[in-house]
Amino acid sequence: MTHPRTSRPHLRTVSITGVGSCVPERILSNADLERMVETTDEWITSRTGIRERRIAADDQATSDLATEAARRALADAGVRAEDVDLIIVATITPDMPFPSTACLVQHRLGATRAAAFDIEAACSGFVYALDIASHFVASHTYNTVLVIGAEKMSSVVDWTDRNTCVLFGDGAGAAVLQNRPSAHGLLTTCLGSDGGKASLLELPAGGSACPATAETVAARRHFLRMDGKETFKNAVNAMVTAATQALERCGIGIERIRCIIPHQANQRILAAVAERLGAREDQVFSNVERYGNTSAASVGIALDEAVKSGRIQRGDLVLLVVFGAGLTWGAAVIEW
Ligand code: UT7
Repeated sequence: MTHPRTSRPHLRTVSITGVGSCVPERILSNADLERMVETTDEWITSRTGIRERRIAADDQATSDLATEAARRALADAGVRAEDVDLIIVATITPDMPFPSTACLVQHRLGATRAAAFDIEAACSGFVYALDIASHFVASHTYNTVLVIGAEKMSSVVDWTDRNTCVLFGDGAGAAVLQNRPSAHGLLTTCLGSDGGKASLLELPAGGSACPATAETVAARRHFLRMDGKETFKNAVNAMVTAATQALERCGIGIERIRCIIPHQANQRILAAVAERLGAREDQVFSNVERYGNTSAASVGIALDEAVKSGRIQRGDLVLLVVFGAGLTWGAAVIEW
């Protein structure tokens, strides 16, 4: 197989040497939602595949979930916090607009040598962050980079809007990226965006375009809004395009991928993407039933579960494929 990442001799191989995740303890079931909005377990399950999601405690912020996921990933990699060079947190629900959640995590971990910043690519954030991180390692700039996707979506969900509140959940997933001579690694990443469709999925107020006022709060403009049907169509198209591009770059057919980890937005999206890619059902990893859509955390949590459950073994080919607000999308092929 070609190895696009290292085909240029000055670039190093980039391996994921540890993974970890953290979800809050509190479970919100479809039955609980039936008591909150006009919905049914049957509707949610048949339209989305989601049965329950995790909801953070009032005093639990995105940085808390991110820090715990990071600790678990570092332990898995056998890396000390002091040895981390860079921390990238992908999130659309930072603890606050600034300082960055990555800086809060840096302090909490005791990662005293690390630089830290957040990136925002909504549900595509984990693959965007992986791509950014991989270049720092490949180019010899840093040896150890911690990538974290973390969200407290429950803090931006409108709990009176049945169109969206049934879909989202909280959590964090993390990965440690390092160079391991002779080890397998990240073969390629593809990213894309289309800001022309920004309004399909947005949180309109609270930024510089529409600062917070009593009116914006009263108009519920600090909650996320989504055109579900259009988002669905765009998600399937973009994920199929990104996955196809990534596989073509590596010269790998879909049948050789051991585990496809799509962004966990909706079981019907996962099924549609798999079908269009010509993948078998048993190639696709899904935990959307238990966590709903955790945005930037979703593929990080899924990757951790797939590895820890033995679903991914050393040498397996893994495909991550994501889509989110922006619009943004991306894919990554990894030889584990
Ligand atoms: O992470 C970023 C990416 N996010 C996504 O990719 C999400 C993409 N979108 C979706 O997953 C789906 O579009 C939804 C799950 C959001 C909706 O499923 P749908 O099959 O597209 O349903 P719909 O929007 O066509 O709505 C069908 C009906 C509507 O009623 P009417 O207008 O036909 O009378 C909705 O009002 O279902 C109604 N509805 C609900 N009914 C019961 C919407 N939400 C609910 C609900 N319970 N929770």
